[in-house]
Amino acid sequence: MDVPDYGTVLDALLAIREGVDETLTLRCSCRSHICGSCVMKINHRSALACKTKLQAAQERAGSGHPIVVQPAGNMPVIKDLVVDLEGLWSKVRAVDPYLQPTGPVPEREYIVSNEAMLNVREATACILCGACMSECTVLEVDDRFLGPAPLAKAWRFTEDPRDGADRARLEALSQPGGVWDCTHCFQCVEVCPKDVRPMDRILELRRRAMAEGFTDNNGSRHSQAFVDSIGSTGWLDETRVAMRSTAGLRELRGWVGVGWRSFVRGKVPLRHRPIPGAMHVRAIFQRAAANDPPRQVRRREQ
Ligand code: FES
Repeated sequence: MDVPDYGTVLDALLAIREGVDETLTLRCSCRSHICGSCVMKINHRSALACKTKLQAAQERAGSGHPIVVQPAGNMPVIKDLVVDLEGLWSKVRAVDPYLQPTGPVPEREYIVSNEAMLNVREATACILCGACMSECTVLEVDDRFLGPAPLAKAWRFTEDPRDGADRARLEALSQPGGVWDCTHCFQCVEVCPKDVRPMDRILELRRRAMAEGFTDNNGSRHSQAFVDSIGSTGWLDETRVAMRSTAGLRELRGWVGVGWRSFVRGKVPLRHRPIPGAMHVRAIFQRAAANDPPRQVRRREQ
């Protein structure tokens, strides 16, 4: 296409639809990276077509190589660049994305402090474009995971001082498919066009869920075992962490095959060699823990 360098990928696609192939199917509305409807894969990376300059896309593709556009990932394709977003919407609905206040309703408006609103400002910037869902490596293999955008939305409501359903939300999010299914791959943080940082919100939800006592799950057990291992020795005892992460002997039995294969490949050391400097790691870890009181305490202090 002969389009100016300062144009966007969306400009090029619309030019194609107007001048080359009128059947080309894509979504767009605002053309100003506000509505989120033009998300797609550009050079194999999820992005808003109206926010991606052709010049930048060409540089990424490499000189002489075509810019590759594909429909967003992890969602069924309806036609060309249009995907079915129902999976995203149903997962957003599943986290009850609305305030559930408890206590008396004020006569006039709810008064919320500046600090409290600034705290949720980044998360409220989410336009639900689905770029994070498209790039999520967990959703690629397990559709039961709620995913980054719905979990960031859930975080936004647990942080809102007007909401009174924190504990119910955190309990629900601690179930399979919730916060513990994230693998920290950072892809959602990388591709989010609004800097919502969904993965950071998920980690924060985990901390809060544990602080509220929702610890009867493998994720919490793993996290605690990890902390105990580093905190007490300065190094990670992977065998013990793996064993403590399970719900008990019954579940452990199901892991015998994995354990054996790991052992055969030398992944289950029976004795660890002393690690020089491990005590320093322990000291750093303990100092960090002392400076970082549980989240629920900090919230109350505010
Ligand atoms: S057209 Fe609205 S975000 Fe791209």
